[in-house]
Amino acid sequence: MNRFENAKKTVLKATRSYYHHLGYYEDLLVSESTKHELDFLEFAFRTHATHRVKEVLDVACGSGRHILGLAHRGYKCTGQDYTPGQVQVAKARAKREGVFVKLLQGDATRLNDDGKFDAVLALRILFLLPDDDNVLACLHQVHRALKSGGIIVCNVANPFYNGENWFSLKSIQRGHYFNEVCVPGMRWLSIDRIEDFDPLHGVAWWQETPVIETSDGIHVFREHERLRLFTYWDILHYLQAAGFKQIKCYPDWKIKPPKKPKAEWLVFVSRKD
Ligand SMILES: C[S@@+](CC[C@H](N)C(=O)[O-])C[C@H]1O[C@@H](n2cnc3c(N)ncnc32)[C@H](O)[C@@H]1O
Repeated sequence: MNRFENAKKTVLKATRSYYHHLGYYEDLLVSESTKHELDFLEFAFRTHATHRVKEVLDVACGSGRHILGLAHRGYKCTGQDYTPGQVQVAKARAKREGVFVKLLQGDATRLNDDGKFDAVLALRILFLLPDDDNVLACLHQVHRALKSGGIIVCNVANPFYNGENWFSLKSIQRGHYFNEVCVPGMRWLSIDRIEDFDPLHGVAWWQETPVIETSDGIHVFREHERLRLFTYWDILHYLQAAGFKQIKCYPDWKIKPPKKPKAEWLVFVSRKD
């Protein structure tokens, strides 16, 4: 079996190591966009669910930036993540911020609590799952976990994005990606190299060396990550296969997308009938 095929163990091991180390700094980097994403989530809840959204599940909550944010806004929240280090960071953060969120370690393809939630988030996770069976299992489980009239919000990176980003076909064809981002208190230099790319199945293994400068020093990581490249149509078909209807895509978290959106991120909202 080659590593582009169903290598669930290898993929989960790489994921666990990658997010264990980087999750905390990644959250600091994207804290500006998180507020906008939370506003979008509340818009999606109001617009797409048939009833008032009260209870929310995040199936790969990372260190909790969305699920804690929603708890602060008054929702009853549950977050789970496969990486124990991420769950620990989320727990510490919830305690520090004085907010209650039920936080669990678990795989996004295995959820409990059938018909319990008004909304389920699957953000930046589908492309990390090892294969089609896992993506479908995750979406089927989300469908089961939702009340009828409840919604899923999921997103994936768009490989056809024409600008500069580590997941764009441009970077993949070039074989590497360099970028420097500065936010208050942190400078993040990404040095990413494609280790392997399977153009038939659209699967890439990246070797990533983020160099992160913060007030507590300079941190250099070296990690591997595997990503599946999904198009708009792939996600549409997965959602339909899992039983979702009335699927709407909002490129780049924009409530009113411009005529030609940048489409760096494809954000899908869909309801369980
Ligand atoms: C890119 S981060 C996204 C975190 C958060 N949803 C966000 O958008 O900021 C991906 C997260 O998925 C988690 N993850 C990867 N594979 C998983 C799986 N099979 N089940 C649950 N979580 C998983 C990782 O540990 C990581 O925290």
